[in-house]
Amino acid sequence: MPLTAVGGGELMTPVLRVEDLHHTYLPGTPFEAVSLQGVNMEVQEGEIVAIIGPTGSGKSTLIQHFNGLISPQRGSVTVLGQDLRDHDLDIKRLRRQVGMIFQTPEQQLFEQYVGDDIAFGPRNFGLDAAEVRQRVKRAMEMVGLGFEDFKDRLTFSLSGGEMRKVAIAGVLALEPRILVFDEPTSGLDPATASEFLAKIRELRDLEKVTIIIVSHNMESVAQLADRIYVIVQGQSVLEGTPQQIFSQSDQIRDYGLDTPQVTQVMQGLRSCGRPVRADLLSVREAEEEICRCFDLTERQVDH
Ligand SMILES: Nc1ncnc2c1ncn2[C@@H]1O[C@H](COP(=O)(O)OP(=O)(O)O)[C@@H](O)[C@H]1O
Ligand SMILES: [Mg+2]
Repeated sequence: MPLTAVGGGELMTPVLRVEDLHHTYLPGTPFEAVSLQGVNMEVQEGEIVAIIGPTGSGKSTLIQHFNGLISPQRGSVTVLGQDLRDHDLDIKRLRRQVGMIFQTPEQQLFEQYVGDDIAFGPRNFGLDAAEVRQRVKRAMEMVGLGFEDFKDRLTFSLSGGEMRKVAIAGVLALEPRILVFDEPTSGLDPATASEFLAKIRELRDLEKVTIIIVSHNMESVAQLADRIYVIVQGQSVLEGTPQQIFSQSDQIRDYGLDTPQVTQVMQGLRSCGRPVRADLLSVREAEEEICRCFDLTERQVDH
């Protein structure tokens, strides 16, 4: 596999590489829909990479390639050294390595008891009872559900946020190396959503899981991602750090996307002639910068 130079010239092998990927749904029929037409991306181990783009731009189609739900029609996808076009691809192994969490994962719960739902995957992969229990316990703790408290609860008596945690724990119990989320915070209230995003970061920081996240929420993408890919009409059109991406606000708006509100405020101040930095992404950084520019102490604005 080719090597990529990152940082101080250190050589790393990406855990995921997409080259010139194309996909058309129902080709040759009247319902033919071209959804990917040249996507390139690369993800390094332990990164949090966000994929953003307008509705219908191909984000969900792209990520369904990562665990083999869709096979490459043209171009290639390589995950943890496995070329997904290989006829002897071990799909079971791939599904264990790449956990996929769709938009409303709680809809996929089906066992009566929480513990059984989370245990379903590990049992299916033939692990023994002690190992299953250990993994369920660990996965529940990772998402913030106490094992003793929740394992025997009725799945469908839980709140929406708790059910989503159960669904995620079910994927974590397989101990994936890559976790792919499609709109993980959709439908959650703001407090639960930010608790979720903090958990995702923790998974990367503590468990070294590589995270790929599709999101419409520019605030959370800006806070969470190390790098962002912008997908428009089935093509990867921009790649960079959140600062690099959101400082190109005209282009981002042309693509039908928003920039974080903090960035909009700072750019507004700049266009009024105030010499503030416009590439800031968090409220805290913006507050400091505004105080510096207007020569205020932070205490004065802190009310
Ligand atoms: N199962 C499908 N059958 C036919 N067309 C589809 C299917 N899923 C998606 N598409 C089409 O492919 C394009 C990309 O869709 P999708 O990958 O869901 O985009 P996104 O996730 O960015 O909203 C859209 O034009 C969509 O209508
Ligand atoms: Mg989608």
